[in-house]
Amino acid sequence: MNFDFNADSASWEARDLKSVLHGFTHLGTLHEKGPSVMARGEGIYVIDSHGKRYLEANSGLWNMVLGFDHPSLIEAACDQYRKFPTYHAFFGRISEPAIALSEKLIEIAPVPMSKAFFTNSGSEANDTAVKMLWMIHRGLGNPQRRKIISRVNAYHGVTGITASMTGKDYVGAFGLPLDDFLFTDCPHHWRFANDDESELEFSGRCVENLDALIEAERPDTIAGFIAEPVMGAGGVIPPPKGYFEAIQNVLRKHDIPLIVDEVICGFGRTGRVWGCQTYNIEPDILIASKCITAGYFPMGAIMISESIADKLNQASEAYEEFPHGFTTAGHPVGCSIALKAIEIILEQGVLDNVVDVAPHFLHRLEEFASHLHIGEARGVGLMGALELVKDKQLKSPFPPEQPVAEQIANVASDNGLICRPVGQSIVVAPPFVITRDQIDELFNKLQFTIDQVFDSVED
Ligand SMILES: Cc1ncc(COP(=O)(O)O)c(C=O)c1O
Repeated sequence: MNFDFNADSASWEARDLKSVLHGFTHLGTLHEKGPSVMARGEGIYVIDSHGKRYLEANSGLWNMVLGFDHPSLIEAACDQYRKFPTYHAFFGRISEPAIALSEKLIEIAPVPMSKAFFTNSGSEANDTAVKMLWMIHRGLGNPQRRKIISRVNAYHGVTGITASMTGKDYVGAFGLPLDDFLFTDCPHHWRFANDDESELEFSGRCVENLDALIEAERPDTIAGFIAEPVMGAGGVIPPPKGYFEAIQNVLRKHDIPLIVDEVICGFGRTGRVWGCQTYNIEPDILIASKCITAGYFPMGAIMISESIADKLNQASEAYEEFPHGFTTAGHPVGCSIALKAIEIILEQGVLDNVVDVAPHFLHRLEEFASHLHIGEARGVGLMGALELVKDKQLKSPFPPEQPVAEQIANVASDNGLICRPVGQSIVVAPPFVITRDQIDELFNKLQFTIDQVFDSVED
């Protein structure tokens, strides 16, 4: 940042530093480099309070996929605010848009689904899914079925339950995971496969390990398995060949329900409406959030199969209800926005655009694979990552005192490009409305930035 925010205590930056606690932000360096305060958006660009323009190559947090000034989404919100600005979904009461959105989600689900339930976020949705399974197992006489299996490097949210399913070291900051949360392999072939192990063989090994874990813990103690189709916040890790087919065979063998966390993949990120369709996954419980409102309203949704819905009904009998819900979930304004966002993505050509431009996006991404310090360029649809390495042959990461990924993201921001460091990789996941020319602009800026950073690193 060129602006000296300390010189002006009335600046947004100085005011931010005095009053705001930022999540997922390096608090030490924030005081040196200052926050980025965004004031408005134009298409896929955001403009900060000093008028500097950035190409938002992360769609905000993967979700702002229709750009930052979509007139129809704004109109849908305003219309609903005029008609009926707020209501809830407890005690059998509900607003019309929440019913219409439930119907729409069931219509477009990747496998037959029976019911939808709303939350305010992806974390709340995943948290709800686990509580549903716990209630079902208890209610049907299997209270010992409490263990949830997740994967190393997974990201499923920040509540007590969902942070316990997040396979990242930082959950230790909270003394998590809770008991009963288990982790199986991260299916990252480039990083974890043995020499000469094919993708299929590697998938086989991951799934054998899962089977062994289930046997060791005893299948009748496992409540469910949760997975993202593509690990997003783990650094964009598409599954290796054959992975989900084999995983589902093991889960079926042990009668373990599958929660698929489509918070990032849902509504087009992988080039199909659902990651489940891209990877032949048949969930019992499907979690959606993020793109459901294109980021114009907080929302999460859970879709459950008929069998899960029936069991939940039975399990609810003892309590005469499903004792769970969020005050603002199923909000009519959010539901109206979601209906419009889904219409725009599916019926007004946005998903077609993803399919059209994704090959160019992936081609430009793969060009980086020849770089001396890029070990892997990986992606699918409109999500990609460049994995940085100090030594390409050894696949060795940069040491902590050389935080190259952070440096690249910082210099990119100076160059008018927002991209994200995740571990040692640089992640890009642009809005679905990006054009081919804008993809070139994104990668030209990234190339320029990477050259700049490595010039200084090598010096
Ligand atoms: C796969 C996945 N699940 C769940 C979440 C949590 O969603 P939220 O931040 O809306 O709680 C995220 C957020 O990035 C995510 O990527």
